[in-house]
Amino acid sequence: MNILLTGGLGFIGSHTAVVLAEQGHELVLLDNLCNSEMTVLDKLNTITGKNLAFYKGDVRDTALIKEILKTHQIEAVIHFAGLKSVAESGSDPMKYYDNNVAGSIALFEAMKAVDVKKLIFSSSATVYGVPQYLPYDEVHPTCPINTYGRTKLQVEEILQDLANANPDWSIACLRYFNPVGAHESGLIGEMPKGVPNNLMPYVCQVASGSLSHLNVFGDDYDTKDGTGERDYIHVMDLAEGHAAAIAFVSRNAGIEMINLGTGMPYSVYDLINAFEKSASRAIERVVQGRRSGDLPIYYAKADKARVLLGWQASRGLQLMCDSSWKFQALLKGLC
Ligand code: NAD
Ligand code: UD1
Repeated sequence: MNILLTGGLGFIGSHTAVVLAEQGHELVLLDNLCNSEMTVLDKLNTITGKNLAFYKGDVRDTALIKEILKTHQIEAVIHFAGLKSVAESGSDPMKYYDNNVAGSIALFEAMKAVDVKKLIFSSSATVYGVPQYLPYDEVHPTCPINTYGRTKLQVEEILQDLANANPDWSIACLRYFNPVGAHESGLIGEMPKGVPNNLMPYVCQVASGSLSHLNVFGDDYDTKDGTGERDYIHVMDLAEGHAAAIAFVSRNAGIEMINLGTGMPYSVYDLINAFEKSASRAIERVVQGRRSGDLPIYYAKADKARVLLGWQASRGLQLMCDSSWKFQALLKGLC
């Protein structure tokens, strides 16, 4: 199938490109490089042995998107392009509504104009908000507690209306839990610009010596060891979930919201312990107060993905840490 990946040079888009290319799909990648580097394209070409089509451009450029959809006879779009910092979404909300919501609308208008009706949207577990029960299933009420989460929920709602009005569209909104890890080659992985906000990239930088220690945001939660628990999912499992979703939208019309998680929560200390084994070095840590806006624990009920997509995550926490470390060590020339 001919597939457009918006945000195709980003963390999740690049790993998904590898899996889809290996399955024989024809890919076109679009990215404005606001949070990625051109070098990722070279790495993708090395891993896949292909010359992937790439456009440097913005999803808000409807004319460009229409041109790409027509020129490459695109049949499905995976819409990864978006901004994802919770903190920045609070301090600069209009940037997030413009990029994530207006950007999505522009893309969907271009798709409608040239009759491309299959879409996978990168949503997030953050749409659920404070858990009323756990694990979150897809019918759990949605009430995001930050601006980033609201942009994701608004796009889901737009897509629900689009699907209601156009029953021949096929849409999957994939609600990712906490993606971590890297491709087994160590060539591609998560490359946050500046000081990382998220746990795994921060731990990687402590292990490589770029940062002195990890700040543990709270050890007094009502969890098994007092630290926050999350449903970490290996990015290659996530990538395979997208391949399964492409097959699903090819067969079914309508819209589905689907969790992509493992169903297994791990604490901050679980992750540190596993990472120390991967890197064979100690991770210095200092316990701090709780981070504002953090939830103690959340994780996915992953049954819907298994039933509808025939997909479930298979890679465990140790592999997530091993692959993250391999990527980091190669990046920093440590191996
Ligand atoms: P990322 O920042 O690594 O990748 C996003 C890519 O989109 C980047 O390469 C960026 O340059 C590009 N981009 C951003 N705005 C664009 C625009 N207007 N036009 C064209 N390109 C644009 O992020 P990621 O981790 O790969 O996340 C991909 C998607 O998944 C995002 O929509 C994100 O909100 C969502 N998501 C991510 C996580 C996570 O923890 N990584 C969790 C849940 C949901
Ligand atoms: C964060 C976002 C969430 C987004 C997710 C993507 C916030 C409040 N939430 O979630 O919307 O969908 O990333 O992966 O930013 N931790 C530390 N020290 C650190 C960093 C994190 O102790 O330096 C702890 C956190 O308190 C949390 C756990 O590690 O308990 C995971 O944190 P993180 O990786 O930032 O992910 P989330 O908070 O789940």
